[in-house]
Amino acid sequence: MKQQLLFDLPPDPAALVPSLRDIGYSFESAVADLVDNSVATSARRVDVFAMWNGGAPTVAVADDGRGMSEEELKAAMRFGSRSPLEVRAADDLGRFGLGMKTASISQCLKLQVLSRRGGGEMTNAVWDVERIQRSNDCRWSVVLERGLESVSDPALRALGGRILAGKPSGTVVFWSGMDRLEGATQDSFNALIASLRRHLALTFHRLLKPARGGFALFVNNLVVEPFDPFDESNLACQPLDEETIRIDGSVIKARAYVLPHHSKTTEEEYRRHGGEDGYRNSQGFYVYRNKRLIISGTWFRLRPREELTKLIRIRVDIPNSLDHLWKIDIKKSGADLPERVRKELRRVIPSAISRGKAVVHHRGYTLPTAVSEPLWSRSEVDKTISYSVNRNCYAFRHFADLLTGEKREEFLSLVRLLESRLPTDQLYADICDKPKSMRQEALPEDVLEFFLDCYLSTHPNATSENILSADPFFLHEESVRKLLQKKDIS
Ligand SMILES: Nc1ncnc2c1ncn2[C@@H]1O[C@H](COP(=O)(O)OP(=O)(O)O)[C@@H](O)[C@H]1O
Ligand SMILES: [Mg+2]
Repeated sequence: MKQQLLFDLPPDPAALVPSLRDIGYSFESAVADLVDNSVATSARRVDVFAMWNGGAPTVAVADDGRGMSEEELKAAMRFGSRSPLEVRAADDLGRFGLGMKTASISQCLKLQVLSRRGGGEMTNAVWDVERIQRSNDCRWSVVLERGLESVSDPALRALGGRILAGKPSGTVVFWSGMDRLEGATQDSFNALIASLRRHLALTFHRLLKPARGGFALFVNNLVVEPFDPFDESNLACQPLDEETIRIDGSVIKARAYVLPHHSKTTEEEYRRHGGEDGYRNSQGFYVYRNKRLIISGTWFRLRPREELTKLIRIRVDIPNSLDHLWKIDIKKSGADLPERVRKELRRVIPSAISRGKAVVHHRGYTLPTAVSEPLWSRSEVDKTISYSVNRNCYAFRHFADLLTGEKREEFLSLVRLLESRLPTDQLYADICDKPKSMRQEALPEDVLEFFLDCYLSTHPNATSENILSADPFFLHEESVRKLLQKKDIS
């Protein structure tokens, strides 16, 4: 006889919670997840308070959004409060009904959520990880504290009084028992807060414009200014045309930007836009879900990161209706590119690459269409590139012709020696790392005049136009014109 029995096997929180703590949130991405929730409830102002408290740090994220009634708060505290299959409002930044809980317990042992809605009473709900781990009743018990005066944590009570008492609705999410910060010092904590600021400024940069319907964000009472990774306000930033990709009736938009060449920015701006990881590591796609950055600086293995493409960043906007395709993970900090989207995105790369390479090649001055008698020659034979002094240029010929016999051979040997020791690796490293600091010695006027005379001795009928197209005179137009005037050459 067949027997079918139904067992109720709820997960044991004492076993599950420790693994949920290690999903892989960083401090910065965990706080950003709480800010997402505030944004989703139409908050106009979000405050992050990160307090050192003499080594017992706490973090609070407070907002003036819709807030929650007691029933809503209870529902919100449940792990998996909403199914990922549920249709969400187009601007909802949530996804799995897990963010607030998993983000919080990844950082702290005690999560408290104090909220009020529509002028109602404040309610505080407490998830205490240690309590869950101690208990062996297999229950997911949450403590509820009704009314501000019942809140047992004095710091949260004070914060609630300061932030929520004067508003009809709003929420404070409060972390304490931040065991992941064990061993931190005040300095390392401050560095973490600075990194949090940068992370939030980048992640929410398109939503941080209160004048345009965005929200205002503060960390420890200091406003977080949006950080635009495309540097669009710089006129030298080159946006390419926007491309539209249609998938399952939803629209993905992609627009490539080529960031300004270092000669078109201040040193500070150039460094800032390179970010912590530098330009080379920050190139590629920047993917946004409802204008919130979820993944940045990757080519999704469509091409390698190259020095010549380091200024290219491609903005990709996906609506949350396509979450099922993108496999947005709980942390929202990673998204795997589905094959269909990958194929389509490949299309936007080539035009961006050619424009990006052109900008990196730019030298900060315009070469005359043809430099006559360049001082250096470049040759590429069988994929081997080499640079040598141009034996036909006037400056070289001047010495080579002047010298004879052994002296001539010695001079040629010296030139060969210098050519063989061109410090290419160092030059490459310096140009990549600190292009702003690279400077070539300016030629003093007497040296310029000496070589001008060399040039004129081999080109007695040269016009000023000929001279100004020769190397290096085209770089010193003003001084050369003065010298030519002195010599009565027009
Ligand atoms: N700051 C907040 N203000 C109002 N409601 C909130 C806030 N944070 C969370 N909630 C509620 O809690 C629910 C669960 O949040 P969360 O665990 O982050 O999952 P998700 O964001 O995927 O829905 C949200 O859907 C929302 O209803
Ligand atoms: Mg959420």
